[in-house]
Amino acid sequence: MTAVEYARKSQERFLEELKGLLRIPSVSTLPEHARDVRHAAVVLAQELARIGLENVKMIEGTGEPAGHPLVYADWLHATGKPTCLCYGHYDVQPPDPLDEWNTPPFEPSVRDGNLYARGAVDDKGQMYMHLKALESLFQANAGMLPINVRILLEGEEEVGGENIARHVREHPDTLKSDFALISDTEMFAPGLPTLCVGLRGMIYTEIEARGARTDLHSGMYGGAAPNPFIALAQIIAKLKDESGRVLIPGFYDKIASPSQEELNAWKSLPFDEEHYRETEIGSQALTGEPGYSVLERTWARPTLDVHGMPGGFTGTGAKTVIPAKATAKVSMRLVPEMDAATIFAQYKEFVASLCHSGIEISVRLIHSGDPIVIGTGNPFVKAAERALREVFSKETVFIRSGGSIPIVGDIERHLKIPSVMMGFGLPDDNLHAPNEKFNIDNFHRGIESIILFFEELGKEC
Ligand code: BES
Ligand code: MN
Ligand code: MN
Repeated sequence: MTAVEYARKSQERFLEELKGLLRIPSVSTLPEHARDVRHAAVVLAQELARIGLENVKMIEGTGEPAGHPLVYADWLHATGKPTCLCYGHYDVQPPDPLDEWNTPPFEPSVRDGNLYARGAVDDKGQMYMHLKALESLFQANAGMLPINVRILLEGEEEVGGENIARHVREHPDTLKSDFALISDTEMFAPGLPTLCVGLRGMIYTEIEARGARTDLHSGMYGGAAPNPFIALAQIIAKLKDESGRVLIPGFYDKIASPSQEELNAWKSLPFDEEHYRETEIGSQALTGEPGYSVLERTWARPTLDVHGMPGGFTGTGAKTVIPAKATAKVSMRLVPEMDAATIFAQYKEFVASLCHSGIEISVRLIHSGDPIVIGTGNPFVKAAERALREVFSKETVFIRSGGSIPIVGDIERHLKIPSVMMGFGLPDDNLHAPNEKFNIDNFHRGIESIILFFEELGKEC
């Protein structure tokens, strides 16, 4: 039996096993879920050992607090063949708002050919494709693989990935590989095989505004006491103008534009702005910097967003209070040549210069990651294209994504190897949102693509 035949015969079991993993609420940002995150790591380590990987271990975080563990495993007996570093993340975003889910986020549910659950596509389902491709290859080849593999899974991608970055920086010798395979991105359209060659970087910050010593009655003190929310609103209003241009001095000073060739390729992608506005965004109009297409604005231009403003009274009904403090969660997406540290310094200085009388402002960096663009002229990309052609009977398109995966930059810088970002998500998969899903055909096609990709690489070298 071939590995692909083994995978086809096992489709139902593979899906059931994935559901088991999705039932674990491994939300990395919430301390009350720390044990669930660890539980997911343990389950994955056991599964890696079961399917035939060696040297399976958990690598504990060394941060303050320690953070969530890495899971490592390898199989290095394909002498003379290339080595792949398979990366994935087993942590997920918080599931809220809960009442907008049609079925509960941690009770995986199949509807219309899709598997619904938090983490279905980002990234448990996609990470699991790697494991099931390896299982199929081991089973079809009497416990052997066509190439060497190392697996490195992290449990804190969604909170910035500090521990994996440190590990890659400090122990590059233990991760020696020829290329990395990452399945944590999307296909441009259903049925269209896609390799992602660029990601934006990001800076995630929190601005805290403090006014009075304690919360105050807004009738007794309103008109005399400073209001930290008003101050934050006024600061935020000065960060971006109505056309969508970021107003931080120096923000656009160092930006590398995509090549004309890349821009032309983007123009020939099947993209309908009106359809995108209606089905993916669902707003009356799109926003953003004038003079750039939607794909340029989301893939190759930096931006700034506000995610939430905790503080004060947010319960049902009314409470007349002037809160003593308020915070705003503000992030920026960066593109090549922008340096996270420089941009953060410019931003911090600008925010401080917007200070309000009676309000104390502090700006905190929560995490950051550099942007990355990856070359396509290597044999791994060529082999990936051949595998995808076999499964989808189509030519591969090359795209960038506006999202960030912090470790990809570190893989290039510290391991000095190219990454192949072969993702099988779809544009309407609701990543980070209610009703996240993974198309079940894509799950199985992803497994077959990875099997064929590894078999291709085992043939040629
Ligand atoms: N898988 C996503 C990033 C992504 C999404 C890439 C869609 C390409 C297409 C990843 O899990 C993610 O959400 N990353 C965070 C990064 C962060 C919190 C440091 C992001 O982009 O917000
Ligand atoms: Mn992800
Ligand atoms: Mn994510």
